[in-house]
Amino acid sequence: MKSILITGGAGFIGNHVVRQFVKKYPNYTIVNLDKLTYAGNLETLSDIEKSDNYHFVKACITDELAMHDIFAKYHITDVIHLAAESHVDRSITDPLVFLRTNILGTANLLNAAKTSWEDYSKHTFYHISTDEVYGSLGDSGLFKETTPYDPRSPYSASKASSDHLVRAYHHTYGMQIKISNCSNNYGPYQFPEKLIPLIINNIVQEKALPVYGDGSNVRDWLYVQDHVEAIDLIFHKGQNGETYNIGGNNEMQNLALVHILCESVDRILGRPQGEAKSRITFVKDRPGHDQRYAIDASKIKKELNWEPVTNVGTGVEKTVQWYLNNKVWLENVTSGAYKTYYEKHYGT
Ligand code: NAD
Ligand code: DAU
Repeated sequence: MKSILITGGAGFIGNHVVRQFVKKYPNYTIVNLDKLTYAGNLETLSDIEKSDNYHFVKACITDELAMHDIFAKYHITDVIHLAAESHVDRSITDPLVFLRTNILGTANLLNAAKTSWEDYSKHTFYHISTDEVYGSLGDSGLFKETTPYDPRSPYSASKASSDHLVRAYHHTYGMQIKISNCSNNYGPYQFPEKLIPLIINNIVQEKALPVYGDGSNVRDWLYVQDHVEAIDLIFHKGQNGETYNIGGNNEMQNLALVHILCESVDRILGRPQGEAKSRITFVKDRPGHDQRYAIDASKIKKELNWEPVTNVGTGVEKTVQWYLNNKVWLENVTSGAYKTYYEKHYGT
């Protein structure tokens, strides 16, 4: 019987993973461990919080004693590790919290697993990581699993470091591990500091729409449920010690994406076309801004028969609808002391 520790389950991707595992695998015990930082919100999981196979624990992954206690109390058999500081802009203004959570926190979890598990062949530690560890691409090329690591921001450097630690525990101690490196996710319950929900929220509130630099940077967008399906497959069928790249096959320049969002929100709200676009504001670029990310996801397609099913057109439309229908959630997560990076640094 599996008792799976899912870390970061109150965050954006984590809540979708927790929901899928709680509902699809009633025989598994799912322990959602989250510190509930500004990015974690339990309201997101209110629909499943009473499920018999679900437990929530508020704890910090850097807390050594707490991790050992949780492994013992819930007889943890496997880990799906998502808890992290995840926003690149924040890592530029406050790098140390990223190093503590993403590096020390991951090391601490690995160590709790190492000392709690007796027969490593019965357990898996799965780390959810990012394509940003590979650095930045020019106009051509794709990140493959074999691409050398070249992280450029404190966030990506901390995730690269945590990937290395996970592999070190595999090679040194024989722990069964899996890693996946995924491109930009979007969809319901994403904190509105990331590009897509920030732009939707700002359009609704008739605020400026900040585009960094000239808007030519390219990201490969993946609808969050496609990522969850990939995680589910890798967890159950991925090979021990392997890395899988996950991508949306949806490369797009930031400015083009912002235009799509403007058209979609204006149309759904019945506003004149062009109203939102008129508020696009080109702002000072992000320091060290990676130019382009693009993923070669042929390994996961070939080995596990996974490919994304949602294209950006459908996914953006669903996401815009969700944010327009969930204004209370948006209001709740953005109330209090929350301010976007650009509001803090450059005003509204
Ligand atoms: P998120 O910021 O929305 O959520 C992170 C969660 O981790 C929050 O619930 C937060 O409370 C929790 N957390 C933070 N510090 C913690 C700590 N010290 N102890 C315990 N919990 C803590 O992030 P997300 O976008 O859902 O990303 C989840 C994971 O996926 C991260 O590891 C991220 O690096 C990775 N990832 C994200 C994307 C993306 O596009 N969002 C893409 C690829 C990989
Ligand atoms: O590639 C995977 C990564 O994607 C994840 O590992 C990170 O956790 C996640 O935050 C995301 O990182 P990005 O930096 O790519 O995402 P973000 O939404 O912050 O920015 C997307 C692009 O949009 C990027 O080129 C910067 C730009 N941008 C962002 C914001 C917030 C703007 O132009 N204006 C903005 O206001």
